[in-house]
Amino acid sequence: MAIDLRSDTVTKPSPAMRAAMAAAEVGDDQYGEDPTVRRLEETIAALFGFEDAVFVPTGIMANHIGIRMLVAPGEELLCDADAHIVAHENGGLAAHAGIQTRTLPSARGLMDPASLATLIRAGDRYTVGTRALEVENTHNRGGGTVYPISTLREIRALADSHNIGLHLDGARIWNAHTATGVPLSDYGAIATTMAVCMSKGLGAPAGSLVLPPPGHAEQARTLRRRLGGSMRQSGILAAGALHALTHNLDRLSQDHENAQRIANTLRSTGARVRDPETNIILIDVDDAPSIAATCSTHGVRISPFGPKLLRIVTHLDVSPQDCDTAADVVSTALMQSPERG
Ligand SMILES: Cc1ncc(COP(=O)(O)O)c(C=O)c1O
Repeated sequence: MAIDLRSDTVTKPSPAMRAAMAAAEVGDDQYGEDPTVRRLEETIAALFGFEDAVFVPTGIMANHIGIRMLVAPGEELLCDADAHIVAHENGGLAAHAGIQTRTLPSARGLMDPASLATLIRAGDRYTVGTRALEVENTHNRGGGTVYPISTLREIRALADSHNIGLHLDGARIWNAHTATGVPLSDYGAIATTMAVCMSKGLGAPAGSLVLPPPGHAEQARTLRRRLGGSMRQSGILAAGALHALTHNLDRLSQDHENAQRIANTLRSTGARVRDPETNIILIDVDDAPSIAATCSTHGVRISPFGPKLLRIVTHLDVSPQDCDTAADVVSTALMQSPERG
């Protein structure tokens, strides 16, 4: 079987997770009657210090609802140019909510608060107003990079000083927490709204949560329904997410070690590897699709992340030995490629 390092979303639920899902107590969540969904929402809200949380099918929907609660149609959101919401959400904020997004360049996805400060506009009859900032932690296209909590606090202070919101795309906030030891509630404290995914490193088959500002859970549930994201007996999914939280958070450091292991091997053979901070490794190459295709024929799946960029992501379904095998296959492919990676 192939070693699949394309993303941490490819994991399959373990027998224990499937058993927890099969045993879940469920009800109709649109009537607010699914006790397992409720338990997940209350657990996640408490972990991040929010009043409530709303279970949604995907991280993209969680981002959309979180940002939509801060920015009205025709208003502006500021974020980095490589943000997931800009690169990989198919223009949803513009298409579904009429939100204008303005971006700034950043170092591996981490924005500089001083640069951000120069871009915020109050808005008037002639000028669009900035209504929120968005940060992504860890940063996917940055290569799993982690914001220092001090920088996040500066960005929140900046948002507060302009009386605007800050949305945190915390799809991989679990990895940031694991890498830094910063409590989840400290990350929650910098965000006006937040999205967290249960289906990335934690390994649940589906499901994310949006954390709304105090008093706005009903608005979040209305927006979820408008987007067609309200589910029924979704306690089956919530049970997978609760199982993931209990069993898979503490092991994320293993994924980070595995990423270092792969990066070290690749670096030792001369590959242009960007230092992994968590579970994502980026490699600069001259022809990413052809190297990814060669690896695939040797049983290792990795992502071309652009014409000249490869992405490798470690996760709970790959062992240190799998990572060693994968690193050897990728190094060989790089060494055999005409440009030598
Ligand atoms: C940083 C980030 N945000 C949001 C998402 C969206 O998650 P989903 O695929 O569940 O919609 C992803 C998915 O990979 C992501 O990497």
